Amino acid sequence: VRSIDTIVDMKAAVRTARSKEQRVGFVPTMGALHEGHLALVRRAKGLADLVVMSIFVNPAQFGAGEDYDRYPRDLARDAGLAAEAGVDILFTPSAREIYPNGYASYVTVEGIGDRFEGASRPGHFRGVATVVLKLFQIVQPELAVFGQKDAQQLAVIRRIVHDLNLDVEVLAAQTVREKDGLALSSRNVYLPPQQREAARVLSASLREVEGRVAEGETDARRIAALLRECIAREPLAALDYAEVVAPDEFKPVDRVAPGSLAIVAAKFGATRLIDNAVLNPPGAEGRP
Ligand code: PAF
Repeated sequence: VRSIDTIVDMKAAVRTARSKEQRVGFVPTMGALHEGHLALVRRAKGLADLVVMSIFVNPAQFGAGEDYDRYPRDLARDAGLAAEAGVDILFTPSAREIYPNGYASYVTVEGIGDRFEGASRPGHFRGVATVVLKLFQIVQPELAVFGQKDAQQLAVIRRIVHDLNLDVEVLAAQTVREKDGLALSSRNVYLPPQQREAARVLSASLREVEGRVAEGETDARRIAALLRECIAREPLAALDYAEVVAPDEFKPVDRVAPGSLAIVAAKFGATRLIDNAVLNPPGAEGRP
């Protein structure tokens, strides 16, 4: 894998690829790679000639008091995993490279960017939208792959691609899970054993409401209430939100429709985890 850490070199590498008519696929990450990230790479690999992965722990998307300073960083390990998975170029800019002195431009996504994750983490989606737009400008990919685990982030990115007329195809890859159901996340390493055990409640509760929907329940308020009840059974889980929303706007819905999302966020000690499930009422095929 070739490592690049300046914008000038990254743009030059993309120009070269373009001159050879190569399709560029892009996987933006903050490093601390796990199987979920590698699944994104494999998806990109199947569709592109050149796969670029960025590793950039983006200060703009962390709030005051969040885990920016202690976010896991291990570039050597990540580079090995990226190479094995088939990444061609690893883009690893410094914070100064992305936000030089005097940096002043930010992208705000109204509505969807203010709800749920946006409400609990003010400024988070402004940071995400800004860095993703910048990375798209630098890498100029034909396609980019994001994880379904961060479903609201995915919706925010689809919104900016649409609103700002970006020529990038945004693809989602399914959440990869541990054997007991816990969604893979770089933040899982923060969990001591008892909290790690307790964190199973998120996926277990989502499976339970999926079951209820499969049995024919379409009242979204009842599904959301059931989700909250399930999570309340775990004393180590401090619920932030549990809702059933439309996948594009992230507004709560009254009726479960194909593609409706059950979303949940809870804290286990100091660690905040999120998860979601795509709901499919019987007889309907939801979109992933
Ligand atoms: O999902 C992430 O890892 C980050 O939010 C992203 C998309 C790389 C932007 O910093």
